[in-house]
Amino acid sequence: MEEKLNIKAALEYYVMAGVDEILADEPFGVGLSEKKAAMAEPVIRKAPVILPSAPAPSERQATTELAQATLSACQNAHEICAAAQTLDELRAAVEKFDGCALKLTASHMVFGDGNPHARVVLVGEAPGADEDRIGRPFVGRSGHLLDKMMSAIGMDRSAYYITNVLPWRPPGNRTPTSAEIAVCLPFLKRQIELVDPEYILILGGSAANALLDNQEPISRLRGRWLEYEKSDGGKIQVLASFHPAYLLRNAAQKSRAWSDLLRLKKTMQ
Ligand code: URA
Repeated sequence: MEEKLNIKAALEYYVMAGVDEILADEPFGVGLSEKKAAMAEPVIRKAPVILPSAPAPSERQATTELAQATLSACQNAHEICAAAQTLDELRAAVEKFDGCALKLTASHMVFGDGNPHARVVLVGEAPGADEDRIGRPFVGRSGHLLDKMMSAIGMDRSAYYITNVLPWRPPGNRTPTSAEIAVCLPFLKRQIELVDPEYILILGGSAANALLDNQEPISRLRGRWLEYEKSDGGKIQVLASFHPAYLLRNAAQKSRAWSDLLRLKKTMQ
C-alpha cells in the first residue's frame, strides 16, 4: 500500500515537473532493481571542482547570438521553401531541417495531411502529444471534435488539407516562442502556396496571429472574412474560428464555432 502511494506521489511529481510522456519501457537511472543496483557503478562523490572564473558572455551578446541563429534559420527555411516544388519535396526538406530546436524534443515531425488539391486549408497551432506520437495533425481529442464538426458541414479529410504553424510539438504543449514561429512559418506558407486553396480556416488565436501577422484576440478575429496575401500578391479568403481544444474546455462557445463553419460552407457553395 505504502509503495502504491509512493508511486502515485512520484507520478504526480513528474506531471507537476512537466514530464507527461513515457519514452521507453524502462526508466533510466531511477527505480533500479536490487540486482541492477548492485551492478551499478558506485557513486563516488568528488569534491566540487571550482573552475577559474571564465568571463561569462554578456546577456546582450547571448541575445545577439540567439537573434542571429534565428535569422539564419529563417533564411535557411526560406531557401528550402523556394526549392521545394511539391508537397512531398517540402515534407522531405522539413524532415531534414535542423534550424528549430523543437525537433530535438519531438518524436515525429507532423506535416500537413489530407487533400493536396483541396479548396480549403485548415491551420492549427502545433502538434499535441497524440499528433507527436503518431506523426499526423489533429488525431487527438481536439482532432476528433474537429472531425465531427467538419463532417457536420459535409467535409471529411478528403475534402480539405490540414496542417499547423509548427511541425514539431513544443514540449508539454507550451506556447511556441516567437522565434519558433518565425522559423517555421515559411513551411506553413509554402504548404499553402503549393495547395493553392480558395479558402483558409484558421483554428485558434495563436495560428491566426502568426499567419495574419497581427495581435488581435481570436474573439475579435473570428466569424468574419479576412484576407491572406500570398508571396505573389494574390489573396486567399480567410475565416478564423476557435481552436477545438478551446471548445472542449468552453462548450458554451461551440455555437459560435458552428456558425463560423456554416459561414464557410455557405461561401464555398
Ligand atoms: N492542436 C493543434 O493545433 N494541432 C494539432 O495537430 C493538434 C492539436
